[in-house]
Amino acid sequence: MSATPSTQRAWRVVRKGYPSKALRLENLPVPTQLSSGEVLVKIQAASLNPVGYKLMGLLPNFLAKRPHVAEFDLAGVIIDGNGTKWKAGDAVYGNIPFSQVKKTRQGALAEYARLPAVNLLPRPPHVTPTQAAGLPTAGFTAYQCLFQHGALKKGQSIFVNGGSTSVGAFAIQLAKAAGCTVTASASAKNEQYVRGLGADEFFDYTKAPLHEQLVNAPPAQKYQVFVEAAGLVDPALYTHSEAYLAPDGVFVSMGPQPKGFDIVGIAKLAWGVFMKPTWLGGTKRKFMIMSVELNEAEMQAFNKLVEEEKVKTPVDSVYAFQDTLKAYERIMTGRATGKIIVKVDPDAE
Ligand SMILES: NC(=O)c1ccc[n+]([C@@H]2O[C@H](COP(=O)([O-])OP(=O)(O)OC[C@H]3O[C@@H](n4cnc5c(N)ncnc54)[C@H](OP(=O)(O)O)[C@@H]3O)[C@@H](O)[C@H]2O)c1
Repeated sequence: MSATPSTQRAWRVVRKGYPSKALRLENLPVPTQLSSGEVLVKIQAASLNPVGYKLMGLLPNFLAKRPHVAEFDLAGVIIDGNGTKWKAGDAVYGNIPFSQVKKTRQGALAEYARLPAVNLLPRPPHVTPTQAAGLPTAGFTAYQCLFQHGALKKGQSIFVNGGSTSVGAFAIQLAKAAGCTVTASASAKNEQYVRGLGADEFFDYTKAPLHEQLVNAPPAQKYQVFVEAAGLVDPALYTHSEAYLAPDGVFVSMGPQPKGFDIVGIAKLAWGVFMKPTWLGGTKRKFMIMSVELNEAEMQAFNKLVEEEKVKTPVDSVYAFQDTLKAYERIMTGRATGKIIVKVDPDAE
């Protein structure tokens, strides 16, 4: 391995706003001081998540602790294992959570980063660095949603609203690997993609309001987990869910994403989901908003499925490091089918 340089290139979030305004490609020092439990990683590839550009556009500087390096998900090689279980040369992938980014100002869109050793997993040999960089946030979110919050068991069934989202694509694969039946929605153009991921049944959400389609054609076995991965503000899928969600099932939203300041939409959502009492027709089903948190045991269980080739990264597109702003343009269309990857090392497979 070549000697570690003293400086590196990194995309830093320097102000609030759209990525084209908020991000700057800069020369930064390579970290030399590691805290206990931290390792130094040479990053080969990073992936984008919607939360990256949303935080850039929403949070004021004092809350986001800017400037900091952008993004969270990465794959790379250990440079300094710093007395942890990792040793120099180990191939890894993992995530720097935003709470950590705010403390250390480290991020995934850089050539090097220091991060907690426990946030990393061994990259299975058949998975390339560009594929591995797409696994963490979306993969762990889908895993926690189904198996921690949904307590999903073999033989049960799930619905994935937004089967072509990255979280949805992982949820479909994970549920199939667990021996469950999967129904998913997407627009008609993505039907083959979603079925290719393993979905048994498909609904085109553009044909008619999806809650109406589901009420009119309820499943033989009610869904145990309803994964809402499209960020809908309209609570209709939840408020009609008694027709298709099992009484002990759970409706898990990845987080409603209002377009602008949609006060009416948010008020409708708050009333329909949190405030309307059941004696006034409130929905008798559990609702929760997902907030992914790294958990070592769940990360290991997820990685086992990756090792066994039961879960693969859906890759939408791969960009060169200098084309990072184009990668943001792609993810911000909201039409990607799979992960948007940035090759930090131009030679990364
Ligand atoms: N709470 C958490 O812990 C957590 C963690 C990870 C992600 N998230 C959130 O989860 C959401 C999904 O993230 P992601 O990275 O998976 O998204 P993504 O990959 O960028 O999603 C793009 C896909 O969304 C589909 N889509 C757009 N509108 C839709 C609708 N109304 N119904 C169904 N599908 C629709 C598009 O398909 P069509 O072209 O067919 O419409 C497209 O394929 C984001 O809001 C993200 O912020 C939350």
